Amino acid sequence: MTKLSVNINKVATLRNARGGNVPNVLKVAKDCEKFGADGITVHPRPDERHIRYQDVREICPVISTEFNIEGYPSKDFIDLVLETKPHQVTLVPDPPDVLTSNAGWDTIKFKDLLKEVISEFKSANIRTSIFIETDLKKIEVAPETGTDRVELYTEAYASGYHQKRAEVVKPYVESAQLAHELGLGINAGHDLNLDNLAYFKQALPYLDEVSIGHALIADALYLGLENTIQLYKRALQ
Ligand code: PXP
Repeated sequence: MTKLSVNINKVATLRNARGGNVPNVLKVAKDCEKFGADGITVHPRPDERHIRYQDVREICPVISTEFNIEGYPSKDFIDLVLETKPHQVTLVPDPPDVLTSNAGWDTIKFKDLLKEVISEFKSANIRTSIFIETDLKKIEVAPETGTDRVELYTEAYASGYHQKRAEVVKPYVESAQLAHELGLGINAGHDLNLDNLAYFKQALPYLDEVSIGHALIADALYLGLENTIQLYKRALQ
C-alpha cells in the first residue's frame, strides 16, 4: 500500500492572504484524515508565508494518522521538529527565499551535515527522509547519512509525463530499485496530480508514500476535498 500524505501548506497560504482564520488549517488537517488521507504534511519556511511554526505545534497533537514535517534543517526547524516529534521529518535543501522546493540533496557534498541532523532526529525516535533526485550516485551514498527513507523529487517525471511517460519514469524505477536494495524506504513528491499519479504508482516498486499539495488542493476547489482525496487514493490502488 502507498500512503497518501496531504500537504496542507496551500490551505495556510489562502488563510494568510486575509489574516484571520479562514480556512481553518487545523480543521482542514483533521478533515483530510476523516476523508481518507493517510497522513498530513507541512512545510514551514523561515518567513512563515505558508504554514506557521505555531500551526505545526497545534496540528501535531491532533493528527491520528502520520504527521510529516518537511524543511531545511536550520536551527529553528530542528528545534521545532524536536519539540513536536512528528512521525517523520523530510529534509529538503531549500534556500529560505525559494518559491517551492526545486532540488534534491547532494548527499556527497552534504553528507556530514545530514549525518549530524539525522542522528539527532533518530535519537528522538523520529523517522527521517531526505529529498533526492534520481541520481544513482547520490542515492548510493544516502544510507551513509543514516536516513530511513528517500523522497524522490518527481518534478522531472511530472513535466515529461504527457510527452514521454515511459521514458521519464525509468530513472525513478531504477532509483527505487536501488534505494530498496540499500534498505531504504521510498517516498515521492512534487507536481504529482490526478493525471500522472496512477502511472507513477504502477511503474514504481516499493513506493511507501506520496506527499501531494498543490494539485490536490486546487482539485478540491472543483471537486470538493473529500471527493478529491478519494480520487487520489484510488489512483494509488
Ligand atoms: N515534497 C516536498 C519535499 C516538497 O517541498 C513539496 C512542496 O512543498 C511536495 C512534496 C509537494 O509538492 P506539490 O505541492 O507539488 O504536490
